[in-house]
Amino acid sequence: MKKIAILASGGNAPAMNNAIITLVKQAMVRKMQPFVVYDGFQGLIEDKIEPANIRYLEKFSARGNVVIRTSRSKEFKTLNGRKKAFNNLNKHQIDTLIIIGGDGSYKGAYELSKLGINCITIPGTIDNDVSSSDTTIGFHTSLNTIVDVIDGLRDTFDSHKTTGIIEVMGRFCDDLAIYSSIASGTEAVVTSKNIFKLNDFVNVVNESVKNGKDSCLIIVAERLYGNNGLPTINHIAEQVEKITKKPTRACVLGHIQRGGTPTAYDRYIANIMAYEAIEIINKNMKNRAICLEKNKVKSIDLATAIKLKKVKINKYIKDFKRLSLI
Ligand code: F6P
Repeated sequence: MKKIAILASGGNAPAMNNAIITLVKQAMVRKMQPFVVYDGFQGLIEDKIEPANIRYLEKFSARGNVVIRTSRSKEFKTLNGRKKAFNNLNKHQIDTLIIIGGDGSYKGAYELSKLGINCITIPGTIDNDVSSSDTTIGFHTSLNTIVDVIDGLRDTFDSHKTTGIIEVMGRFCDDLAIYSSIASGTEAVVTSKNIFKLNDFVNVVNESVKNGKDSCLIIVAERLYGNNGLPTINHIAEQVEKITKKPTRACVLGHIQRGGTPTAYDRYIANIMAYEAIEIINKNMKNRAICLEKNKVKSIDLATAIKLKKVKINKYIKDFKRLSLI
């Protein structure tokens, strides 16, 4: 009987639970024995490996948490840590590990696979930073959360003729910033590809006032301001207010973006990706990354997946000013 283990790694993302539940159910159907690992790679090192209890897990299908929790493990980045993880899997006679996570977790999975564990990855992160997949589990839910919050900010800021500089998550990937700006029709978006200077912020505000807008919303991707010698968004907001004479507020949306009820779409892709993962394990395929490509699920070699570069959507940024300020 094949023994498989499932873990989540990196930041939690809504609908990871749906992937976990389907992995367990499909494994049972294929007469495999499914285990779950609590607390991600760190839990693997600490032997937090238990047989999966489907009746317990399935109660979390509509929750945005990760029922088996997740972590970012420094120890797993060391060979010593990975050897401990490998020994614990061996102890339970588990030869296949399914890792649900983002870019960093894929790299961790690849390193572990070098020790002889069959590693199958499923893209799960709000950041959408997995180059081998068109989208990741959790991205859609997070995007909806951001758009909801921005709608609320628009109500408030329209009522007070206020400018908002709003920071969204995404780690080193600009997708949440770009998609949420387009979806909610903000006046500008600032990403790693078009970093604004103070003057650029001021120009957007002045132009939106000139066009008769009550509020002006500018989304900025995280990790740009307050880093690499750039001022914080609080400082920028103070300066913009001084120059434009419009009330200006900086808002950091923060961890609200990682929780909440998973959308139907995220639950759907979590299910079909999990299904595919068990299919390929059943076919004895080794070290594969599950991907969604043009609405179809497939898998590619894990070593190839981690080398792929993300496709950028610069075209929209170029045209953004023309589209949004009018
Ligand atoms: O990877 C998910 C993510 O939310 C990123 O968007 C963000 O950069 C990071 O995690 C924040 O990490 P933490 O929760 O450790 O502050």
